[in-house]
Amino acid sequence: MLKDKFLIKGLAGKKKLKGKIAVAGAKNAVLPALASSILFKDKFCISNAPEISDAKYMIELLENLGAETSKKLKKTLCIETKNINRSEINVDISNKLRASIILTGPLLARFGEVSFSHPGGCIIGKRPVNIFLDGYRKMGAKVTEKNGKYHIKIKAEKLEGAKIFLKKVSVTGTETLMLAGVLAKGKTILENSAMEPEIKHLAEFLNSCGAKIKGAGTPIIEITGGGLLSTKGKVYKTLPDRIETGSFLILGALSADNLEITNCIPEHIDSLIELLRQSGISINTQKNKIHIKRNAKVKNNVLNSIEVRTHEYPGFATDLQAPMCVFLTQTTGESKVHETIFEGRLNHTNDLIKMGADITMWNPHQVTVKGPTVLRGKELEGPDLRAGLAYVIAAIIAKGDSVVNNVHYIDRGYEKIEERLRDIGVDIKRVNQ
Ligand code: EPZ
Repeated sequence: MLKDKFLIKGLAGKKKLKGKIAVAGAKNAVLPALASSILFKDKFCISNAPEISDAKYMIELLENLGAETSKKLKKTLCIETKNINRSEINVDISNKLRASIILTGPLLARFGEVSFSHPGGCIIGKRPVNIFLDGYRKMGAKVTEKNGKYHIKIKAEKLEGAKIFLKKVSVTGTETLMLAGVLAKGKTILENSAMEPEIKHLAEFLNSCGAKIKGAGTPIIEITGGGLLSTKGKVYKTLPDRIETGSFLILGALSADNLEITNCIPEHIDSLIELLRQSGISINTQKNKIHIKRNAKVKNNVLNSIEVRTHEYPGFATDLQAPMCVFLTQTTGESKVHETIFEGRLNHTNDLIKMGADITMWNPHQVTVKGPTVLRGKELEGPDLRAGLAYVIAAIIAKGDSVVNNVHYIDRGYEKIEERLRDIGVDIKRVNQ
């Protein structure tokens, strides 16, 4: 793997970024959409697909199963799954991304069995798979596990609809069981489902192709199973990435003179917009764009400290917690952060401390951030995808030069990020190590 790094010249707190930055298609929308191609008897095409490495790995996994993939126009991918001839998910590739587990639902429902190893992905906590396995058991499958490898096989002729209460609100758990339910016999009811917009959007597309899913976007989803779906030429359009939108907004709040974030759905980050406004930032939203200007309104240049508590959608996204911590280093007073979803997702604060932030970790879920503090450029190891981008933001506002290593994590979810940041005035260079 290429070990790229970013060299970034900090703005030393100056608000200089200007122009327009467009948000790409969402990683966490394109991955379940790719997995759903297994539910189709005809070609499934996806537009606005982000060019990111996680999407590439998911396509490799589908190809490894026997699917045929092609690229039509730029950013439009097509997958044909009629020749899938195996249901064993490749270990080496699935070690790279957690979302590989979404494939297990449609594979099991279509082919009656599936094997996979414990999926990899960002190291942000334990990330068990019990919700998936419990769901499959309820749907009439036998689960065997040996040395971290799972084999799931249905006992009857078809996977059977069931009432499943998800012990925790799980995004990929909801998506996977929803996709399995589409080809199951009878009705599947998912209680305590995740409500992320990507789930609702995918369900709507599947419904337009013959699926019968009710309630996606609410905590109770009801799926009436049937036969294979057919796009009849319809194309799934990837939603804009709300985490990228939010990260650009935080960057803008900290360092924009006059920035327009385009191709986005501001409504999907209402919880972030609310908190930034509470802190004193004025933000102008329109249907598909957000405008942020150097903040004349901020009294004496003081941003208020705030309390952040991550929560499932529509609450504050855990994926925005790391960039938000960077923002909090610039607020005045003491801000509190409670990361409620993952137990390893505040470790990035160690590097912010190295840069000069005043952060105290009370336990793996809670920190306080005292500010404002001047951040100084440093060499940083991106520990995961979202924290990696948070480091880029920290490096942009810092005094002096920074090196952000492990850019391959950032490439997992952000398309050519350095080129887009350069266009709005960031001094950032990618270097091959
Ligand atoms: C999805 O991960 C996202 N990934 C994550 O984005 C995101 O951080 C996370 O949801 C929370 O919003 C994709 O959509 C591909 P979960 P997922 O299952 O589905 C526990 C990023 O950077 N749990 O919703 O894997 C789990 O430990 C990534 O883009 C179980 O206990 O997360 C956690 O505490 C990282 N048993 C909670 O549920 C299970 O079987 C929520 O996790 C599954 C999960």
